[in-house]
Amino acid sequence: MARVALVTGGSRGIGASISKALKAEGYEVAATYAGNDEAAAAFTAETGIKTYKWNVASYEDSKAGIAQVESDIGPIDTVVANAGITRDAPFHKMTPEQWQQVIDTNLTGVFNTVHPIWPGMRERKFGRVIVISSINGQKGQFAQVNYAATKAGDIGIVRSLAQEGARAGITANAICPGYIATEMVMAVPEKVREAIIGQIPAGRLGEPEEIARCVAFLASEDSGFINGSTISANGAQFFG
Ligand code: CAA
Repeated sequence: MARVALVTGGSRGIGASISKALKAEGYEVAATYAGNDEAAAAFTAETGIKTYKWNVASYEDSKAGIAQVESDIGPIDTVVANAGITRDAPFHKMTPEQWQQVIDTNLTGVFNTVHPIWPGMRERKFGRVIVISSINGQKGQFAQVNYAATKAGDIGIVRSLAQEGARAGITANAICPGYIATEMVMAVPEKVREAIIGQIPAGRLGEPEEIARCVAFLASEDSGFINGSTISANGAQFFG
């Protein structure tokens, strides 16, 4: 029977590439999205991958959504916590709302996504938890106190989960993408983006497929001894 993978934020950006890569590896994939119905419908039409709409910031919505996926497709043994948002502002201008929205989605969202799936992984003695962190969780970033805090938090989450899951056949790892050519990075003012590209030794943005490749590697059954680690994929911008 095919393994079942859940990818949050899996219908756009890096998440869409992850969903497609796992499908190509033979997984049954469910992709979640928060609000963009049109993009999700287009993604399903293109790929045949089923999409589910819920807010990862809500524990109850996540729990109900995951129960629905498991009843439709089967027990989830691979979860990719990818959904994330930015609310960039220099710290002196950052509002409590901007702080809280990013914490709720990017950090609490990881808890809400993995927690309902974890008991089943423990029972079945197999699981793959992959959290999409960021180079900015490793190095910090101007105007991203909120985002960098969540992405650094992801690394603490996987290092801890790895220790709890190791004897139950569960691995938990993080991937730290550098700047990837997605809508999130394209939303950065052009002048700032050009300056960022100038700081990447590879001389270019990364491609979403280059992150999906890391996910497929960590998800595979023979990656079982890679646990609690972080893979950096950033064109040599920073080695973490
Ligand atoms: N480093 C140092 N200084 C910077 C800077 C940086 N990276 N970015 C902006 N500044 C400076 C500007 O030069 C400007 O300085 P002056 O006032 O002396 O001219 C000042 O900060 C900007 O001040 P403003 O009050 O005008 O800023 P603002 O309130 O309009 O905010 C901004 C602008 C939100 C910071 C905008 O510049 C921006 O979006 N910057 C990019 C932040 C960024 O890199 N985000 C990463 C997004 S991609 C991502 O998150 C994916 C991932 O995981 C990698």
